[in-house]
Amino acid sequence: MFRYLPPADSEFAPLVDNITNLVTDISVFFTTAIVGAMIYFAVKYRRRGDTDHETPHIEGSLFLEVLWTVIPTIICVLVALYGYYGYEKMRSVPDGALEINVVGEKWVWNFSYDNGKETQGEFTVPVDTPVKLILTSKDVLHSFFVPGMRTKMDAIPGSYTYQWFKPIRTGPQQVYCTEYCGDNHSRMLAKMNVVSKAEYERWVNTKESTGDTPSEKGRYLYSNKLPCKSCHSLDGSRRVGPSFLNLYGRDGELADGSAYKADENYIKESILYPGKKVVKGYPDGVMPAYEGQISDEQIGDLIAFIKTLDGSAVAVEDLAEEASAVELTAEEKLFEEFKGKLPVVAQCAACHNVTGAPGGVGPSWKGLYGREGAFADGTKYVADDAYIKESIWEPQKHIVEGYPGAMPAYAGQIDEAQVDQIIEFLKKIK
Ligand code: CUA
Repeated sequence: MFRYLPPADSEFAPLVDNITNLVTDISVFFTTAIVGAMIYFAVKYRRRGDTDHETPHIEGSLFLEVLWTVIPTIICVLVALYGYYGYEKMRSVPDGALEINVVGEKWVWNFSYDNGKETQGEFTVPVDTPVKLILTSKDVLHSFFVPGMRTKMDAIPGSYTYQWFKPIRTGPQQVYCTEYCGDNHSRMLAKMNVVSKAEYERWVNTKESTGDTPSEKGRYLYSNKLPCKSCHSLDGSRRVGPSFLNLYGRDGELADGSAYKADENYIKESILYPGKKVVKGYPDGVMPAYEGQISDEQIGDLIAFIKTLDGSAVAVEDLAEEASAVELTAEEKLFEEFKGKLPVVAQCAACHNVTGAPGGVGPSWKGLYGREGAFADGTKYVADDAYIKESIWEPQKHIVEGYPGAMPAYAGQIDEAQVDQIIEFLKKIK
């Protein structure tokens, strides 16, 4: 009785259906029993004639009270456990799921695939394959509902959410927006085509739109457009900030001791507001906030790029760096030697070069000792021992003109004797 659900076309749809049907059946049973008893008693004990009947005096019944407390409690607990079991399955995406980015906007759904393929209002997925949809919105709240898959999730502007399913039959599926989002909300539909794996491969590899894939665009942002690479390596080596290698999905600890998982929302937040979650062992206040300087699309591209850094391919940039590192200048050789003696200066090398090349995060060390210059506030300085010591211990006190003032303070991490060693080194690379 009361079976109105659409065909169950995803792997966990029967789970959803079973619990929905179970709750419906229990509700129908108790509604019938309670209302039926009410009607039965109302008829049976209705007023007859003009005489009042004296009703018997009935005390409470412990047996009945226990019965109607214990039975509903057991039913509720079983329903909750069964529901949680299904919920757990629906929130745990299996490894290797096909990821598709879905962006809602008034009043259309946009889909983009890892290889750069983009579609609107209609998309295609392979059968018998776990599919993860990563949802966000350009404007207002929308909600992505695929009844045949039994999945529904809000698409939220400025944030990422997900849903996953494994279609078990080929054929079309209707998608609805189920969050009232404006006057054309009811027309915000999409079609999902479930096809065989071979057909999916053919479909996804015919590109209507030419152009770079999101991860290629992200790689370009990383290496050319934004200064990410000065602080984040691709090969796992430590620079000013954590390496991007295997970053996506990583579990780690923050400076305040709490745990983090590097998912889409974490990466986005770390780009826009890096001070909110500082990874343990890394300095706070070094990375500038990119809020207002980078678009949602660019953030999506960077995330797509970071996802590719799972160690399966050697990063091109770092190969190039290794190749150029073969021929070291005299200063660089001295620097390598010095790093061997005082390992902490390896951190300095992330931002300060010894070749005099322009473009570093901080001023080059070549010719630094004794240099005369100006601070950002216009006052003059001479790079003597006192200046260098202050620049290491309290770098924010005086910022050299033209530099971002990004250096963390090393007071407490580099002692006086080590500062003297650095000064001796600087004197050698004049
Ligand atoms: Cu989008 Cu309703």
